[in-house]
Amino acid sequence: DDLPFQRSADDTVSFTLGASSVTVALKGATVISYIHDAQERLFVSSKADVSTRDPNAIRGGVPVCWPVFGPPPTDNSLYAKLKQHGFARTSVWTFDQDRSTESNQEVKAVFTLQPNDAIRSVWTLPFALTYTVHLLPYSLRLSLQVENPADAVASLPFQALLHAYFRLPEGVLPPQVLVSPLHNLAYNDKVTGEQKVNEGRKVVDVDGPKGEVDRVYFRAPDELTIAYKGRTEMVKVKKTNLPDAVLWNPGPEKGKTIKDMHENGVDSYICLEPGLTEPFQYLEAGQSWEGGMEISFA
Ligand code: BG6
Repeated sequence: DDLPFQRSADDTVSFTLGASSVTVALKGATVISYIHDAQERLFVSSKADVSTRDPNAIRGGVPVCWPVFGPPPTDNSLYAKLKQHGFARTSVWTFDQDRSTESNQEVKAVFTLQPNDAIRSVWTLPFALTYTVHLLPYSLRLSLQVENPADAVASLPFQALLHAYFRLPEGVLPPQVLVSPLHNLAYNDKVTGEQKVNEGRKVVDVDGPKGEVDRVYFRAPDELTIAYKGRTEMVKVKKTNLPDAVLWNPGPEKGKTIKDMHENGVDSYICLEPGLTEPFQYLEAGQSWEGGMEISFA
């Protein structure tokens, strides 16, 4: 049929603009496919179950981490029942067809999440999330809006992160990945446990010990580039209101321990994750915040 937004039995919403197309899983409002210029630009593990019947986060695509990034803080009971990266990535979002729009120039699909019984059992504060997946001729824009409702009695603290799994071009492996500009930024190294290290390299490769990289770069420039040694293709990531950037690939050895990862899957992607990691953002009743990223290619 000619409906602009195609729903599948697997609980996904797909749409196209010219030769580009996007698929979003209602589980997590996770973008699980972005085809641009006849190439799939995102990585998803073949062991991932994108349906809403399965309660696990999708291993790949662009999971939305909210209200926390990584392990939740342990010093406040508010976070006591949260899992790593929060509940947004495992919750079933609503596709808001009425607010979604389509023209020859762009397609905008809007997804929303508000507290339901499952969420209220792990998170007591009211909130409203709106996620806009905006397909343009040469880019994909992802934008997360957080609102603390006007009648809320407490301020709403959160971290937020768009955990993008970028598929590497055919024939490229993670040790060839180059990310810039991260020069002179402070970063936390989650592999060594070192805090606030100065990045001395002009261009950062991911060729760490055992191929494992897990770093949180603070106050990164809003325009970041992923390039590959010996190749001309590039991914441009432009972030807005997400001050930090996480660079993650577990490497071959640790990759084998990820149970929802297919064999050698970690060779096929690099995660570059724009985020708001510290300090937490606080919203008073009636306030809202918006942050996001735009993905394009050169
Ligand atoms: C990254 C973290 O953002 O996500 C890593 O920095 C973590 O430490 C990775 O391993 C994947 O997390 P998860 O929960 O999806 O396995």
